[in-house]
Amino acid sequence: MALPDLPNWETTPDDIAGAIRQVKAALQGRIDASGRTVEEVFAVMERRVLAEVEDIVATRARGEEVWPVVRYTDIANGTVDPATLQLLQRRGCLIVRGHFERDQALAWDADIVDYVERNRFFETYRGPGDDFFGSVGSKPEIYPIYWSPAQMQARQSERMARVQQFLNQRWTNEKPSEQPGVRWFDPDRDSLYPDRIRRRPEGANSAGLGAHLDACTLDLWMTQSYQRAFRHLFDGTVEQYDPWDASYRTDGPQYAGTTMCAAFRTFQGWTALSDMAHDQGVLHTAPIVAAFGYLLLRPLLSDVADDDMCGVNINKVFPVKEQWHAPLLDAISGIPDVQAGDSVWWHCDMVHSVAPVTNQQGWGNVMYIPAAPWCPRNEAYASSVREAFLTGSSPTDFPEEHYEQTWTNRFQPEDLNRTGRRGLGLAD
Ligand SMILES: [Fe+2]
Repeated sequence: MALPDLPNWETTPDDIAGAIRQVKAALQGRIDASGRTVEEVFAVMERRVLAEVEDIVATRARGEEVWPVVRYTDIANGTVDPATLQLLQRRGCLIVRGHFERDQALAWDADIVDYVERNRFFETYRGPGDDFFGSVGSKPEIYPIYWSPAQMQARQSERMARVQQFLNQRWTNEKPSEQPGVRWFDPDRDSLYPDRIRRRPEGANSAGLGAHLDACTLDLWMTQSYQRAFRHLFDGTVEQYDPWDASYRTDGPQYAGTTMCAAFRTFQGWTALSDMAHDQGVLHTAPIVAAFGYLLLRPLLSDVADDDMCGVNINKVFPVKEQWHAPLLDAISGIPDVQAGDSVWWHCDMVHSVAPVTNQQGWGNVMYIPAAPWCPRNEAYASSVREAFLTGSSPTDFPEEHYEQTWTNRFQPEDLNRTGRRGLGLAD
């Protein structure tokens, strides 16, 4: 059955409202032409999501852990039990206990303090480079620091590579019957996506972050590669929508914006550098990996204005709102207590938030390190990452703060191991 083609915009459209009207009508028309209605297709996705919400709410009510938890040693030995793997496939998020030795994580935390203090970071700090995260007084919570020895040691470590590989393997990176000869990414090679550090001190008050999605905005509906990636949502075969299918996700363009992530990440993640209790302003997710399909279909229903994608717009984090997405908010569940050295991971399409905290007990310190496997998109970004690494600059996905350019004790090229060189595209 030939369905009508969709209009697409490979760069941000000049007339955003006009493009939204046009693409929505075309997506609705394409679903109609498949012999199903938008309401019917959305209802399929809604049932799938509501079944998960119910399970999550019941799990919480029984006092059980919603987040799947595995030990690093089970990942390293290939002994993660099938039930946990299955739960990870549904929930799309994971705690890795003992990813690093606690002493190692605490030593990295101390090294970071030493690194920034020696370089008089607090004296020269100019305030937040973007308004995405706030700061406490004159001291930042988010350090725009990318090239400390501690961060690079963690990024190129054997233990990090092993966990990233395990996470990448949850995805389908090739579909020989549908796309012969195409491998959308290499699960065994990471691109060392450089990100920042958060160090939130004892006694801190933080408003947290509302429910949102990272990275993409209107491009999700408007570029040809994303229209192909989410083809099952828009061609009447919604039952086949698979949030773990990497097809067409790793090569297409993204609309530029202050919140963009140029890389493809299978999972976003961080490694704990301090112990953190579950009620001290920690990460939450709506742990339903298929909910992304719900989010992409919701704007096509008739109660949303023709030129509105449920509030999604460029230069703005993808919002998740009571008005449009209420059932997902019921599923929001926080991480359990974590120790320094544990790591926390969530699927790149997953709704997440950070809880507020008043008078925080203990520190809240993390290094953001995602899983960003080698693929055309990440290879392209790696060339700018190499440049930033060699000059101590802020990577191009982040505000141009460049604190480390003059710092002499940065991690040096000669300190790279083979994983590090491959991640930066300096070795095959
Ligand atoms: Fe986020």
